[in-house]
Amino acid sequence: MPAAQAPLPPLPHRGAFITLEGGEGAGKTTQARRLAEKLRARAITAITTREPGGSPRAEVLREILLSGLIKDLGAKAEAIVFAAARIDHIDHTIRPALLAGTWVICDRFADSTRAYQGSFGGVDPGFLEVLERTTLDGVRPDLTFVLDLPAEVGLARAAARRAPETTTDRFESEALGFHETLRRSYLAIAAAEPERCVVVDATADEGEVAEAIWDAVCSRLFAEGAPRKAENSRESSGSTRKPGKKREQDEAHPAPAPRSTSSSKTLA
Ligand code: TYD
Repeated sequence: MPAAQAPLPPLPHRGAFITLEGGEGAGKTTQARRLAEKLRARAITAITTREPGGSPRAEVLREILLSGLIKDLGAKAEAIVFAAARIDHIDHTIRPALLAGTWVICDRFADSTRAYQGSFGGVDPGFLEVLERTTLDGVRPDLTFVLDLPAEVGLARAAARRAPETTTDRFESEALGFHETLRRSYLAIAAAEPERCVVVDATADEGEVAEAIWDAVCSRLFAEGAPRKAENSRESSGSTRKPGKKREQDEAHPAPAPRSTSSSKTLA
């Protein structure tokens, strides 16, 4: 068994780790991309990644998980396979990036196991807690966005974005009640860990959601508020900023100075 890794240093001595969570069709992938663009426009190195997947071996496990091939093993076994994929993702993508000072924005992470395999799959919370602690080995998100929307809205969006010839994946094809349970589960996670989680209304316009996310990133992770935009930044303009509201690039702030999280409960 490989030795336990050294604990991650606190912010700002590494990149920040941000996760996006929520049900199907909540817009996590789009928002992850938009947030990375905003950071890069401010000269902050950022990568986007996803779960299950995010490293070559974890992507192989993704194929297996989403095909439904191991569904019959039951939710507990699925949780273990999601965890196996997560271990490889952390070891080969997330931890090295954070240590190199790169911000990591991840589309789904451990809260998805709590919601999908825990709340809906009925896997014992004590088992999942131990599995999560062992799997994460101290690599916990600094900030998690729960993109919240009614299950039927999310499923309609997921169906609209799916190519006509493709079918639903293993989880999309579950009944509406499944997706409602998921929603309640994510809201419960956010309520239990308010220092880590921010709930964002994902029924809002894409630009407004991006703005809410950015505001929370600035207030929670930057000691001095929003970092200034770099010259010649290529970030796409925020199309829905409301008239009269102060634009980000007008705000005079010092260079990015991520808030220290050494005392944060979210860091193991
Ligand atoms: P994906 O196509 O990435 O879905 P989405 O676009 O909604 O994020 O498929 C990932 C699916 O895997 C999704 O239905 C949620 C599920 N999942 C779990 O059940 N447990 C987990 O731990 C993770 C990370 C994902």
